[in-house]
Amino acid sequence: MDIRTVSTQPFPDQRPGTSGLRKKVRVFQQPHYLENFVQAIFDAIPDRQGKTLVLGGDGRYFNREAIQTIIKMAVANDWGELLIGRQGLFSTPAISHVIRHYRARGGIILSASHNPAGPEQDFGIKFNGENGGPASEALTEQIWAGSKSIERYLIAEIADIDLEHETELQLGSTRVRIIDPVRDYADLMEKLFDFPALARLLQGPFRMRFDALHAITGPYAEEIFEKRLGAPAGTVQNATPLADFGGGHPDPNLVYAKPLADLLFSDAAPDFGAASDGDGDRNMILGRGVFVTPSDSLAVLTAQARCIPAYAGGLHGVARSMPTSRAADVVAEALGIEHFETPTGWKFFGNLLDAGRITFCGEESFGTGSDHVREKDGLWAVLAWLSVLASTGLSVREILDQHWQRFGRHYYTRHDYEELPSESAEQMLAGLHAQFPVLPGQLLAGREVAVADDFSYTDPIDGSVSAHQGLRILFTDGARLIFRLSGTGTAGATLRIYHEAYVREPDQLHRDPQRFLAPLIQLGKDLTRLEPLSGRKAPTVIT
Ligand code: G1P
Ligand code: ZN
Repeated sequence: MDIRTVSTQPFPDQRPGTSGLRKKVRVFQQPHYLENFVQAIFDAIPDRQGKTLVLGGDGRYFNREAIQTIIKMAVANDWGELLIGRQGLFSTPAISHVIRHYRARGGIILSASHNPAGPEQDFGIKFNGENGGPASEALTEQIWAGSKSIERYLIAEIADIDLEHETELQLGSTRVRIIDPVRDYADLMEKLFDFPALARLLQGPFRMRFDALHAITGPYAEEIFEKRLGAPAGTVQNATPLADFGGGHPDPNLVYAKPLADLLFSDAAPDFGAASDGDGDRNMILGRGVFVTPSDSLAVLTAQARCIPAYAGGLHGVARSMPTSRAADVVAEALGIEHFETPTGWKFFGNLLDAGRITFCGEESFGTGSDHVREKDGLWAVLAWLSVLASTGLSVREILDQHWQRFGRHYYTRHDYEELPSESAEQMLAGLHAQFPVLPGQLLAGREVAVADDFSYTDPIDGSVSAHQGLRILFTDGARLIFRLSGTGTAGATLRIYHEAYVREPDQLHRDPQRFLAPLIQLGKDLTRLEPLSGRKAPTVIT
C-alpha cells in the first residue's frame, strides 16, 4: 500500500469554535481543506500510533465522502484500529460512549449539530479525546496552531471502503471494524434506566411522540422506544436520517420543531413530546400544553434524580453553563451538593465530570447530560424525564408546578439575532462593555445593578483560565442579562441575549415568560443600541 505525502498550504480560517470546525460544505469541498484540518488533528495526537480511533457522523451531506478521506488519512498516520459506525453514522453521544467503552484514544465526529445540511449548507468536524469528550481548550488551540503552519498531509492510496455492513478488515497496519452504531449506546441506556418500568409506562395508556427531525436519532429512538420498550409503532416520527434532514433545521426548539410543539399544544396532545437535533445531543421536552425550558429541565432532573436507578444513590454535584438559568443552583443548594458555573460549550464540563465533582450538567441551549458520557445526550434526557413521569405518576405540568412551588421559578428567554454584519455585532458589545464601569448601583428597568462584568472562568480542576466568555449584568434581585456572540455560526455574527428573573411568590409562578421579562428584553436592546446599529426590530429566534 502506498502512502502519499501531499504538499499543502495553510487555510487561515480553521480555528475551531464552540464545538469544532464548522463551515459551509463548499468550504470543506475545497481541495486540501478537510485534509489539512484532519492532519492538524492527527499531528496534535503524537501518541496515536497503534491506538484506536472512532469515526462517524450525523449522516449529513458530505458525511460519506469525508469519512472515506479520513479513513485513508488515518491509515497513513499509523492509527492501529478504526471503529466506524455502519454507513458512517454515529450520534454524538453514542460516539462519546463508544470511545469510552472500547478505550479508544479518541474519535472524530462529522457534524454541524443542529445547523441545516445539504450542498449549500453546513458541515463540521470535531475531535473528542479518550474521556469521550470534546477536545480541551489547550488541544483545540494546538490543532488550530497546527492548521496555520501545515505543509503536508499523509494519505494512503487505497480504494473506498464499503461501510454498509458490519465487518472487519486489515489495511496495512490498521485494523478497520465497521460496527453497529446503535447497539452499544442502547445497551448503556438499558443499564442506566429501569427499562421494565419504562416499558410498563409506554405500553399503558400513556402516549409519547418523539420527533427525530429526519436526523441521526431516528434509528436510536426506534431501537430504544419502539423495539426495546415496546412503545406503539409511530411513537418515533421522521425517523429516517436524510442527507439534508428533509430540508429542515434539525434544532429541537419551539421554532424549528414546530409541528411537534403544535401537536403538544393541541386537543390531540399526547402526554409527552420530545425531539433531538441533527447529531443527537440536544433535547426538547414538552408535556401536554407545556414546554420545559432546558434550564428548568436540568433543575427538575437534579431534584428528581432518585427516580433513576443509576443516580438513586445521590449526585456529586451539578454544573451549568453561565448563560443557563440558575434554577439548578437553587436545587443543588437545597440538596447540599456542589454546583458550578462554566463558560458556554460542553468541553468545560469534562474536567468536572472526570474528577467526579459533578454528575449532571446542562446548558440553556437544549443540552442536558450526565457522567455516563462526555457529551450532552438528547435521548438520555428523554429517558430521564420518562423515568420521572413513571416513578411519580405525575404529568409534566404537575412536575413543573411542584418544582416552582418548592424552589421558585426562573423565568428565562434567549433572543438570537442571526447573521448580523460582524462589525456591527462587535460594535454593540464594545459599546455595552464601555458602559460597565458606571452600571453598578444604577436602577435599570426597575432593578438595581449589582455587577457588570466580562465573564472569566478558572477551571477548578486544572486552573486554566478562559476569559471573555460573555458580558453579564447581574441585578440585586437575582435577575440577569447576558450577552455573547455565537461560536458555532457559519454566516456573519449571531448575537445572543439571555434574560432571566427569579421569583418565589406563589402568585407570580404562572406568567408568560416573554411578558414577564419584557422590561429586561427592552433593556438589552437599548444597552446594545441594537436597533440603531443593526436595523433589527425583532430577534430571529426566541427560545
Ligand atoms: C451553541 C450553544 C452552546 C452549545 C453549542 C454546541 O453555541 O449556545 O450552549 O454548547 O452551541 O451545541 P454558540 O453558538 O452559542 O457558541
Ligand atoms: Zn448537536
